[in-house]
Amino acid sequence: ITRVAVMTSGGDSPGMNAAIRSVVRSCAYYKIDCVGIYRGYQGLIEADFISMNARSVHNIINKGGTILKSARSKDFMEKEGREKAYNNLIASDIHALVVIGGDGSFTGGMVFNKEFNFPVIGIPGTIDNDIFGTDYTIGYDTALNTVVDVIDKIRDTASSHNRLFFVEVMGRDSGFIALHAGIGAGAEEILIPEEDLGLDRLLDSLQKSRRSGKSSSIVVVAEGDKTGKNVFEIAQFIEKNLPEYEVRVSIMGHMQRGGSPSCFDRVLASRMGVKAVELLLDGKTNLMVGSVNNEMVAVDLELAVKEHHAINKEILRISDIMSV
Ligand code: F6P
Repeated sequence: ITRVAVMTSGGDSPGMNAAIRSVVRSCAYYKIDCVGIYRGYQGLIEADFISMNARSVHNIINKGGTILKSARSKDFMEKEGREKAYNNLIASDIHALVVIGGDGSFTGGMVFNKEFNFPVIGIPGTIDNDIFGTDYTIGYDTALNTVVDVIDKIRDTASSHNRLFFVEVMGRDSGFIALHAGIGAGAEEILIPEEDLGLDRLLDSLQKSRRSGKSSSIVVVAEGDKTGKNVFEIAQFIEKNLPEYEVRVSIMGHMQRGGSPSCFDRVLASRMGVKAVELLLDGKTNLMVGSVNNEMVAVDLELAVKEHHAINKEILRISDIMSV
């Protein structure tokens, strides 16, 4: 392998730039060429490539988003699109592909690897932390800090007005952000996709805390929480049944995906980029880099896609105890 391509794909996350930088600089360190692909798989199909060297990635370690841009490509889901992508790689004499993204991006990489036997290595970059085979994904820590920061601010106004706030955070299928930011920000209740605690239990708990003297409260709701109701419906239900509280809803949305990456994410991204290039140089392929117990490991890409990164239910219990 003497020429490697790198791309970012799917929803962006803070620290993706640090990962690009690490892949590019590892290539420079090992004296191999590196090519950047713009807009993920779509740019691969359209041959939107740029040659990169150690200097192309200066001043980006601190930047959110991704300098290579990102996309969710429908064309790559078709065989025809993947064929075009393969031909473009061969035409540019590229021997391996590093994909920084989430499980959708890894599924694409896995299919591509199977079809054309083209070497692919995944680096997990998503704020959701929902990838099996790694304790942490790049961007998750930054997103947690962003959410905690915002909830701290909401807490100020909630307490001034004696209000009950419902804060919706990202996580369509995964409660990592809601659970951990919820604990970190001292939320009264946390609703996640993994566990349906029921609206009656929520009402009961909020009634109890009201009776125990709490004048304001914060409930964190993951986008895809398992009650099946959206945050406004949940808030309405509580407002109707607990009229002592004035209720407000706040949706955090895409601000969770932006911002300068935390030191944790920068270090994680730097370590993962080096590992990805070293795996390729060792002749390994169809793997994802993971961080397990603070060690860089290689996980079968197929496993990373198929298995589920489970939340630690013990942490739900902590939330319960903290809201006594
Ligand atoms: O996959 C990451 C994620 O942030 C999810 O938590 C969220 O549901 C989704 O992306 C939003 O995606 P989009 O940017 O396409 O609206």
